[in-house]
Amino acid sequence: MSIAAENTTVTDEDLAAGRRAYELDRRHVFHSWSAQKQITPMAVTKADGAYVWDGEGRRLLDFSSQLVNTNIGHQHPKVVAAIQAQAAKLCTVAPQYVNDARSEAARLVAELTPGNLDTVFFTNGGADAVEHAIRMARLHTGRYKVLSAYRSYHGGTALAVNVTGDPRRIPNDYGTAGTVHFHAPFLYRSQFHATTQEEECRRALEHLEQLILLEGPGAFAALILESIPGTAGIMVPPPGYLAGVREITEKYGIVFIADEVMAGFGRSGKWFAVEHAAGVEPDLLTFAKGVNSGYVPLGGVAISDEIAATFADVPYPGGLTYSGHPLACAAAVATIGAMREEGMVENAARLGAEVFGPGLAELAEKHPSVGEVRGTGAFWAIEFVTDRATREPMAPYGGSSPAMNTLIGACKERGLLPFANFNRIHVAPPLNLTDDQARTGLGILDEVMAIADTYTTGG
Ligand SMILES: Cc1ncc(COP(=O)(O)O)c(C=O)c1O
Repeated sequence: MSIAAENTTVTDEDLAAGRRAYELDRRHVFHSWSAQKQITPMAVTKADGAYVWDGEGRRLLDFSSQLVNTNIGHQHPKVVAAIQAQAAKLCTVAPQYVNDARSEAARLVAELTPGNLDTVFFTNGGADAVEHAIRMARLHTGRYKVLSAYRSYHGGTALAVNVTGDPRRIPNDYGTAGTVHFHAPFLYRSQFHATTQEEECRRALEHLEQLILLEGPGAFAALILESIPGTAGIMVPPPGYLAGVREITEKYGIVFIADEVMAGFGRSGKWFAVEHAAGVEPDLLTFAKGVNSGYVPLGGVAISDEIAATFADVPYPGGLTYSGHPLACAAAVATIGAMREEGMVENAARLGAEVFGPGLAELAEKHPSVGEVRGTGAFWAIEFVTDRATREPMAPYGGSSPAMNTLIGACKERGLLPFANFNRIHVAPPLNLTDDQARTGLGILDEVMAIADTYTTGG
């Protein structure tokens, strides 16, 4: 397996185009989640495999997979060819017509997802998948309220950001959204004063059930949960937690929505992260990102037979012009094909077990600035602290700090593009990374952690 593109060079024309793009960007482009005058976004002049090249022609190993979506790396030739072939054949078609790329993409999603999630509603991305999943749950149950975890991210649109449990919700919050937030397990920063995963799991489930009883057990349409919370910190749930959530949701007739937008499509070392909890089958599963590595925007909801039946003879009141767009669906078909042929999900599992797991544990042992490392597959979080004893984060929740900014800069100076959030750096490279590339990245992180150690104040 090779993802390297060692000899790709950036030309003077690429660099000039990058400079021009930067000028136009600063003049005309409005960026997500940003104070527009305070950002200096990096230009990407080229990308190939696990690498991107910045505006100065510097090559960076992409340990972020952009926004954790390029699961097959950049410019995979099979997927590029499939998009080109589809563009030559049929660029677009309205959603009411049958299209072969869409039909095949739906068949593949139904085949890969657990249980009887046999029908697929395609959206343009993750947030609208979440919006539609909740809409389906509300119509299916005739109820309104939604349960969702703190320390979660579900998207930037009105309802998706209201079910989100991170600080980006706060300026967008509408009480009328009907969301009730709960604490999911997170032993390192336990809300339940737990000291073991078993205790954390049991107390988190008791808390969830108690909340449902206090809020009105007949009130909830849905519970939405990332099978492994991603942006919020890659808190792999303890054994038994997802099974417990399934049991509670079944008991109270609540639709269980597994949000697999980030954790799905191989990221965790299985096709879907919910599969780590054997036998747990959600009622709805939202996906996006890795379904086609984001080469063309695509998301969707995989729907159980029971919920699909609700809309068998009653129209579903929702739709999108680009639902099941042929370019996006052809990219999904080719992506899933390439992932299967090249054993990428297996490679992610192996990288996690053999390289990232042991490698990061060793680094955590060595560096006092590392409070915890956690994860699975190609999906890991490094939690930086200024004091291991008090677990004081190196940046406040919801914010940044000079120390974290220095660490992010140090990664880039050494040729590594990280995914950073608050006091964490995540390791989320393409699933087809080689062991050598993984070790190169870990080597850079080792050097960066040595810098982080200089910011520690305690034990
Ligand atoms: C778990 C999860 N759900 C939903 C979304 C929203 O996806 P999108 O940005 O495609 O709307 C994200 C994006 O990061 C996500 O991580």
